[in-house]
Amino acid sequence: MFAYQKNDFFDRAYDELAVAFAEPLQLAVVIPTFNERDNVGEMVERLRRALRDINWEAIFVDDNSPDGTAARISEIAASDPRIRLVHRVGRVGLSSAVVEGMLASIAPVVAVIDADLQHDETILLSLYRAVEAGSDLAVGTRYADGGSIGSWSEQRASVSRAGTRLARTVLGTELSDPMSGFFAIRREALMAALPRLSSIGYKILLDIVVSSPRQLSIQEVPYTFRERFSGVSKLDTAILLEFALLLIDKTIGRYIPTRFFMFAAVGGFGLLVHLAVLAFALNFAHLSFWSAQAAAVVVSMTGNYFINNQLTYRDRRRKGLGLFTGLISFYLICGLGGAANVGIGELIYADGQTWWLAGLIGAAVGSVWNYAVTSCLTWRR
Ligand code: GDD
Ligand code: MN
Repeated sequence: MFAYQKNDFFDRAYDELAVAFAEPLQLAVVIPTFNERDNVGEMVERLRRALRDINWEAIFVDDNSPDGTAARISEIAASDPRIRLVHRVGRVGLSSAVVEGMLASIAPVVAVIDADLQHDETILLSLYRAVEAGSDLAVGTRYADGGSIGSWSEQRASVSRAGTRLARTVLGTELSDPMSGFFAIRREALMAALPRLSSIGYKILLDIVVSSPRQLSIQEVPYTFRERFSGVSKLDTAILLEFALLLIDKTIGRYIPTRFFMFAAVGGFGLLVHLAVLAFALNFAHLSFWSAQAAAVVVSMTGNYFINNQLTYRDRRRKGLGLFTGLISFYLICGLGGAANVGIGELIYADGQTWWLAGLIGAAVGSVWNYAVTSCLTWRR
């Protein structure tokens, strides 16, 4: 009995000493991964070398990559407590992965770096030191003196430059490389921005900067963008679209929900399709007005459904049989919306208002109905 208590006493004293002599955690490095199995080992090696002067941890956030990235990370983490894994299932998205990784750590400074070794990890320590020295945010930049985009094709370079210019004008940020996904931020600055984050798509840095309630003090550290170590890029046209959505959300999104804006834009496009089909059906197919108008309604509604499914509700996209049942519900809901549109327009017109005001109010009520109801039924979460 006595012997046991004595052991217990020494064990506890040992633990307390170990804690007292350990450096407090200084930096968390968040590394989002999707199909990066052959990069994570090399990444960890390079972090160990680059960060040997501070106490750090790495948090991989893997969206259940089919290539077994998570298993590879677990293997490495089993023998190094600084390596951690947040394994997400049933969710994807770079920005949200990064945010969850950041929140899984208590480190006072958090950095984000890609897993494919395109970002130069040897400047991580400078990024950390810049924040430690007082900046809210330190950004690895490809577009300042000493930085470069490396060996990109002229096409990709010009897309990147155009995006950079667009972001800088629309959002009025001073960042030389607002599209960068390589930075370190002070936790307080991060927490202040989080509640207002859009978390759409890829551009988490831009999102944080424009969501911050106050102007952040920013330092930039140039680096040269490298070639991917292994695997393939996940950047595709959908990502470009998400970038456009982020810009919309951060500008007019304050007044109109971005999704409604998208839905209405698709509806506007549908109107053009409607008129085109109507013209064709009347002048070339020589249908009666009634059949031509009906054909135009069906074609434009169907088109709108598929476009909304790909763009507006990309994150809740319907597939397989659901794609078909969704179409039916979309027809029914928008059919009612159309009836409401006509009915309300008629009422207002009968009340003595001018034709265009009556038409406009009818259309507005119809589209709000269509948007509200399809978002809870056709594309419910
Ligand atoms: N967890 C998770 N979920 N990770 C993801 C996802 C996702 O849905 N999509 C991409 N990633 C990870 C990749 O595994 C990689 O580690 C990192 O995010 C960047 O993805 P890449 O596919 O390598 O993107 P890129 O090279 O085209 O884009 C890079 O350059 C941009 C600037 O042009 C990234 O650094 C961007 O952040 C940067 O803005
Ligand atoms: Mn990459």
